[in-house]
Amino acid sequence: MFPQSAAAPWRALFLSGLEKSSASPFTLSTIAHGTGSPKLAVPRARTVEFRGFFPKPASSLHPSAIDALKAQNIGLNPEVYESDVFSITTDVRMGKVGQIGGSTSDEGGTGDRAGEEAVEAVFWFEKGVKTQWRVRGRGVTIGSAKEEDKERERRVRERIFKRMRLCDGVDKDSKEMKEWEWERQVTTYFASHTPAMRGSYKNPTPGTPRSQTPSNPEWRLNQKVEDLRDPVARENFRVLLILPDEVERLDLSNPEDVRRTNWAFVEDGDGGKWQETELWP
Ligand SMILES: Cc1cc2nc3c(=O)[nH]c(=O)nc-3n(C[C@H](O)[C@H](O)[C@H](O)COP(=O)(O)O)c2cc1C
Repeated sequence: MFPQSAAAPWRALFLSGLEKSSASPFTLSTIAHGTGSPKLAVPRARTVEFRGFFPKPASSLHPSAIDALKAQNIGLNPEVYESDVFSITTDVRMGKVGQIGGSTSDEGGTGDRAGEEAVEAVFWFEKGVKTQWRVRGRGVTIGSAKEEDKERERRVRERIFKRMRLCDGVDKDSKEMKEWEWERQVTTYFASHTPAMRGSYKNPTPGTPRSQTPSNPEWRLNQKVEDLRDPVARENFRVLLILPDEVERLDLSNPEDVRRTNWAFVEDGDGGKWQETELWP
């Protein structure tokens, strides 16, 4: 039932570099398809903030966010799962979501076409580490409550679940296992933002001309959101997850011994395992 039984071999190294360098922003690239015929594939890249491996534990939130989850009767997900799936938060109206097929209206369509969800993330941990990490995989989003997204949401959750494992010491038949919910997990990510950051999901559509009046009168800049179920903000809020297929570390900390290591995820009947290869730099 839980195909992933052990943490990825690169995980501890990655987290240690992240902690030492305190560099949580990274570059996320996607593929966009231009207009015209044939539709040319073009790269798109932007800076985003790493929000930890999925699922973000409620205990990592600011005390005020934990209080808000409790006070609004949402509660805290029990900390029973972990994974090596990278998470970020984003707005469904932004280009990257359509480019990975995460929005119904956008160029990506349903996300069924091969290669469409391909993403590459690049981290540069400079301070004290001097190491580049490149993560190649599939980008998917969760967090839509729309009827038309129900089937995709279900399929995506299934794929993410295949990459999840139980935390050490958790009994799979325990009561807390049954209390874990996907919706509450998405809300935990929403709660992890400040009220002002939550308000940004009610901004006018990102990337549209400022001269245009927003089509929704509730879309304005500088709003603060305390209600974790705020329907206008939540309609746009998504958690974007990167299911890694290949992870590569370039360690420049010792110029006389530059190391490049590649880990490739090979799926098999037991869920899959990581294969490590030492490369010439
Ligand atoms: C330091 C920094 C952190 C950012 N973090 C995020 C983030 O976590 N999620 C996000 O959607 N955009 C984030 N942005 C904004 C993106 O770089 C980008 O402008 C936005 O996502 C729209 O890009 P897109 O239309 O290509 O999707 C961040 C920008 C900076 C400079």
